[in-house]
Amino acid sequence: MDEISLLDIIVPVLNGGKYISEALDSLLKQTLENFHIIIVDDGSIDNTYDIIRDYEQKNPEKIKIIKHDCNKGLSTARNNGVKFSNSQYIAFHDCDDISCENKYEKIIKHIENNDLDGCGCLGSYFRESPDNVCGNPGISYEYNDIFHNFHLKNHFIVSSMVLKREVFSSLSGFNCELKGCQDYDLWARCLMAGYKLENVPEVLHYIRLHDDSMCKTLNVVMAEEEKRIRNQYRFFLRQWKLTKRFDTFDLNTYIYIRRDKNIMRTNKKLNIGLILIATNKYIDFFKPLYDSAKNFFLTNHNVRFYLFTNHKHNFFYEDVSPIFIEHQPWPFMTLLRYNFIWKNKNIFSNMDYLFYSDVDMKFVHDIQDHEILSDLVAVIHPGFYNKSPKKFPLEKNFNSTAFIMDKRTVKMYYAGGFQGGKRDTYLRACKILSENINKDLKKNIIAVWHDETHWNKYLIENCPTKILSPSYCYPETGYTYLSGLTKKIIAVNKNHQEIRK
Ligand code: GAL
Ligand code: GAL
Ligand code: MN
Repeated sequence: MDEISLLDIIVPVLNGGKYISEALDSLLKQTLENFHIIIVDDGSIDNTYDIIRDYEQKNPEKIKIIKHDCNKGLSTARNNGVKFSNSQYIAFHDCDDISCENKYEKIIKHIENNDLDGCGCLGSYFRESPDNVCGNPGISYEYNDIFHNFHLKNHFIVSSMVLKREVFSSLSGFNCELKGCQDYDLWARCLMAGYKLENVPEVLHYIRLHDDSMCKTLNVVMAEEEKRIRNQYRFFLRQWKLTKRFDTFDLNTYIYIRRDKNIMRTNKKLNIGLILIATNKYIDFFKPLYDSAKNFFLTNHNVRFYLFTNHKHNFFYEDVSPIFIEHQPWPFMTLLRYNFIWKNKNIFSNMDYLFYSDVDMKFVHDIQDHEILSDLVAVIHPGFYNKSPKKFPLEKNFNSTAFIMDKRTVKMYYAGGFQGGKRDTYLRACKILSENINKDLKKNIIAVWHDETHWNKYLIENCPTKILSPSYCYPETGYTYLSGLTKKIIAVNKNHQEIRK
């Protein structure tokens, strides 16, 4: 089996002696000419190995066996099969399923005629024999339909799928950490990376139902995995819809960048102002934040720290400019942030960009200019990134300037903890926000999440040019569903009652 084939079909098997002959027979009968079968025996202890050896000896041109001495798991078996293949396309076939004779010929034609990156087909469930069909997985076949509904359902039968090899390798194959749903996860990652997958709209594949089918043994762990994949995809879709307004889309960090002609891509050192507010006990957060910023925050540029504080002692750092303010009880120190900034606008005149960070944050990952520099920069709130806009904590008081008349315009809820932009753009936001907050205060209104509620209202009318993922406001603990994201800026755990006195 030396010649390079059009297609290699990877067949992982673990104790599949009972059914594998039927699967292999259906593959050997394929009308497609140029293909090979790679069987990965993943540590079977039944008669599987004898059977597949027999097939190999009878079809040395077609079949190759890889034998794992012990069970390494389905994803590893499939990934290993791919490692040993060198074909243009790869397919996966379960050892208990049966394919129609013209399946692979039709699928590959469909890929080539429609310029796809991968394709499967429709399938039916059967017991004992494909004559005895008992239902079907109810999946869609058309790309757009699948793309917009993939968070609701896995529309691909793993055992029917053919992928271009480079698609598989660009995504590093199946995720070996998953217990089940490895296929759902892989297709979701394909779609999110922009690869086009669909199904031939014909039943060309039969899925066997039997007592130890994997789909029957879906346990709690798999249900959790499935939930995570769905949530991640749902988040992606929401973002994707937003990105129609945007130029670039970086999936790994969930960064969305709107057309921003002024984006600086020079080697010039920029002046960046990092604005912090720390009165009373909050001052304890300053030093750790400062140290972490020196390590990680835009280290190629000149960062100046503007510290609004009521502590009159000297700060022995030459890159810190203290601005003295009176302390007021919570929530005024956060609510009035835009007033403090706007009132002191002249001190920022040498700055190119301004960022505001809550002081109880810490930089824990390198953050570079191309990630965050833009006209108006906002961070998706970690608590709402995968929630429906109906759950967003928007202002309910009609008399507040933060009230949003048309809720349909709300697509995203942003965190207040980190934000910024070009100096003048951000200062303009601060001006309008401070005016709105003052108007509310005159009516004795404080919006539900203070400055954050106003910031969200502002961003509806002034779409951010860069939307950062919750990576940039990542809660130090909790929120396990964020586990796919890198922590870049963390919100430090604190005892609210103690600190807000
Ligand atoms: C199998 C599939 C596995 C896993 C499982 C969960 O058919 O091969 O990758 O998704 O279903 O039902
Ligand atoms: C909390 C956060 C608040 C506010 C709120 C919105 O997790 O601490 O600052 O953003 O979510 O519901
Ligand atoms: Mn099966």
